Amino acid sequence: MSSLTALVTGASSGIGLETCQYLLEEGYTVFGASRSGSPIDHDNFIDVELDIRREADVEELFSEISNQEDGLQVIVQCAGVFDASPIIETESKVFRDHLDTNIMGAFHVFKHSTELIVPNETHYITLLSVAAQKGFPNVGAYCASKYGLKGLVESLKEEWESKKVRFTNLYPGPIDTPMWDEVMDEFDEYDRGSMLNLDDYIGVLDMVVKSAPHIQFPELTFLHRSGGLNP
Ligand SMILES: NC(=O)c1ccc[n+]([C@@H]2O[C@H](COP(=O)([O-])OP(=O)(O)OC[C@H]3O[C@@H](n4cnc5c(N)ncnc54)[C@H](OP(=O)(O)O)[C@@H]3O)[C@@H](O)[C@H]2O)c1
Repeated sequence: MSSLTALVTGASSGIGLETCQYLLEEGYTVFGASRSGSPIDHDNFIDVELDIRREADVEELFSEISNQEDGLQVIVQCAGVFDASPIIETESKVFRDHLDTNIMGAFHVFKHSTELIVPNETHYITLLSVAAQKGFPNVGAYCASKYGLKGLVESLKEEWESKKVRFTNLYPGPIDTPMWDEVMDEFDEYDRGSMLNLDDYIGVLDMVVKSAPHIQFPELTFLHRSGGLNP
């Protein structure tokens, strides 16, 4: 095992999967969490199947990490759900699932990660979205969850001042990932060609991960220049 260790949630797909691959290439030991498991096969990758909505699953994840590692240098929270429908047509269970996954899931990770904090090293990188900066039609549940997640991280930043961790919050515009596969019909006149791609994301992540330990990026927005869903 290397001396640099990372946890990535949402490791089975899209941004989380790409993040795991990037961190492995950078020499990290990576714990990757998702419900369905990650396709990554690498000596320094530990696949953990869990449901982030369940606090007991997340507690178990951290005890597994603690059994193998003394601390976490990077925690990238990518697990999330995204559904599209007008607010009055959104089923309550779908709305609740956004809150359970996108806010409660992150809450569980923050809450149970404290034993693995290494002062002046641990870097929490959280996938927010432009949907935490502006409301968009037909994604009310998603926007509500991302605004809520923003509130959670902003409060933690104040509470955890003495822990000497850093918080970077990423606010990307649309990135072409499997997240969009089921919902494109709801976005007329919007095509995947005007989304960011995963290489664009990795370029930003690389800058963030390699930045000096005293730097954090409280609100790093990045957008496709011609993207149709920009704030
Ligand atoms: N793509 C974009 O345009 C975009 C833009 C801004 C922000 N973001 C944010 O970036 C993050 C990743 O998005 P993506 O585009 O990579 O989406 P994605 O391809 O759909 O991946 C979502 C990941 O979240 C995991 N996940 C969902 N529910 C979970 C649960 N209950 N427990 C554990 N894992 C769960 C999924 O794994 P399982 O299904 O296997 O559990 C999957 O690995 C999300 O937070 C999203 O809101 C995305």
